[in-house]
Amino acid sequence: MTDTRATDQPELRLQADELHAYVCAIWERAGSSAREARLVADHLVAANLAGHDSHGVGMIPRYADSLHDNELKLNRHAEIIRDAGAVLTVDGGKGFGQVAGFEAMELGVERAKRHGICAVGLRGAHHLGRIGHWGEQCAAAGMASFHFVNVAGDPLVAPFGGADRRFGTNPFCAAYPRDGKPPFVLDFATSAIAYGKTRVAYNKGKTVPADCLIDAEGRPTIEPKVMHETPFGALLPFAAHKGYGLAVLCELFGGALTGGLTTHAATLETTNAIVNGMLSIIIDPQAFDAHDGQAQAEAFVAWAKASPLAAGAGQVLMPGEPELATQAARRAQGIPIDPATWQQISDAALELGMTTGEIGRYSESARRSA
Ligand SMILES: NC(=O)c1ccc[n+]([C@@H]2O[C@H](COP(=O)([O-])OP(=O)(O)OC[C@H]3O[C@@H](n4cnc5c(N)ncnc54)[C@H](O)[C@@H]3O)[C@@H](O)[C@H]2O)c1
Repeated sequence: MTDTRATDQPELRLQADELHAYVCAIWERAGSSAREARLVADHLVAANLAGHDSHGVGMIPRYADSLHDNELKLNRHAEIIRDAGAVLTVDGGKGFGQVAGFEAMELGVERAKRHGICAVGLRGAHHLGRIGHWGEQCAAAGMASFHFVNVAGDPLVAPFGGADRRFGTNPFCAAYPRDGKPPFVLDFATSAIAYGKTRVAYNKGKTVPADCLIDAEGRPTIEPKVMHETPFGALLPFAAHKGYGLAVLCELFGGALTGGLTTHAATLETTNAIVNGMLSIIIDPQAFDAHDGQAQAEAFVAWAKASPLAAGAGQVLMPGEPELATQAARRAQGIPIDPATWQQISDAALELGMTTGEIGRYSESARRSA
């Protein structure tokens, strides 16, 4: 494996709209429709803005590899396989999850407005990226939602009590809409850290926090290379048996209930594809007899935030607030990208059909803004 890590070079930086234009250009050159390229760019740049670089533009090389493997399919749409009114089974056809997820949420929101609630089982989507994006889409339409996601056939995480990788980083998300304010969005991998965060640390030549990884012998380690160089180790679930239990339910709801695939010997992925299944429960708050719901929510938030601060803590935050703060800072100062990640994106852009001249213009701009 080539070591593309570049720890001694300066960070690059791009304004969100310029990075968005670069991502659109990359996928349009690869053959995506303008709408598809825009939805992918919307999602990846929003993940970077939120501070989740693990699910931002750094995913482009992996998507390019998956396209090269003929696994990721361009210009596919979410297809309703079974319509049971408030329960929809939707297939992503291995198209961009950024498109299938968007379209599945549009369908689910429309049904939830009609029936009060809708369960959308989306299966066979290529990487759905930052799941908070889907919670935010539902919240923007006034809906509360929660989402259980599995990563079919891509084991990275050891079961509680186990010593090798058996299932994916299976994220969970729940979003609560607020009148005239950004929603509360809880969104995390059920592994102690997201796999992409080991990639970011590896690219930067940094270690990860303790209690997140084991090596190939099942021993604790802080070296992210155990996830990127053989012999492979594994991520640990967060919060011991509790995080493990939630990961199991993400696998069952996201992979089995949706009619998709779970991870086992017969489904192990041998390509660069990342295939997500997602069960989304979308609820219209108007359907409840809860006229005081927003006031009760805000009263709780104020109450929780009034807690005296623990030693060393700066403030009490609600889920979603760290992302909003990072978003504001990055909109003002631009999005930082480490040089190794930038190089990997540029290599992928070239492979996908952009010219060195076009790539060079974005690279020059990113160096100038740093
Ligand atoms: N598509 C996939 O297959 C896949 C797989 C795994 C993870 N992911 C994505 O990876 C991303 C990163 O996951 P992660 O596990 O690294 O997230 P994380 O550990 O950074 O946790 C993020 C969540 O915790 C909240 N939070 C953080 N600090 C807080 C504080 N001080 N007070 C209150 N709330 C706080 C955030 O608002 C957010 O909801 C997520 O967006 C997830 O959806 C996707």
